[in-house]
Amino acid sequence: MSLSRRAALGSMAAAGTLALGACSSARESTPITSSEPAASGEILLGLTSEVPVGGGTKFAVDKTLTVLVTQTKAGNFKAFSATCTHAGCIVNGVENNEIACGCHGARFDPESGMAIAGPAKSALGKISLEIRDEEIWITI
Ligand code: FES
Repeated sequence: MSLSRRAALGSMAAAGTLALGACSSARESTPITSSEPAASGEILLGLTSEVPVGGGTKFAVDKTLTVLVTQTKAGNFKAFSATCTHAGCIVNGVENNEIACGCHGARFDPESGMAIAGPAKSALGKISLEIRDEEIWITI
């Protein structure tokens, strides 16, 4: 990949992250219906430096898919659909070592995505993730 393409993809991912942040409160409080994402194949989400150790970062892939990438310990990245399995809200992110949904209080394990508290009974959808140099790629 050329440097200019990498920079462009990184900018697109960053813009998606920023756009998500700008409208996150509305999305978090509004359940959405799940459907297949328009995007498919390998997708560059962003850079590993965007995901804090012990935390998580949401990346908007398209209108139907937001991905939460967690880093439970240095270099251990996991990717999940950010759509809560209870009623379809977009989870807030990682809070106190748990993935938190602000709609009705569900909590998920940031390592496995399993539901650990609240009304959700099913795990968050796992997404195949690969780290290439400092880039985070998913396959959907
Ligand atoms: S939609 Fe997440 S707890 Fe209800």
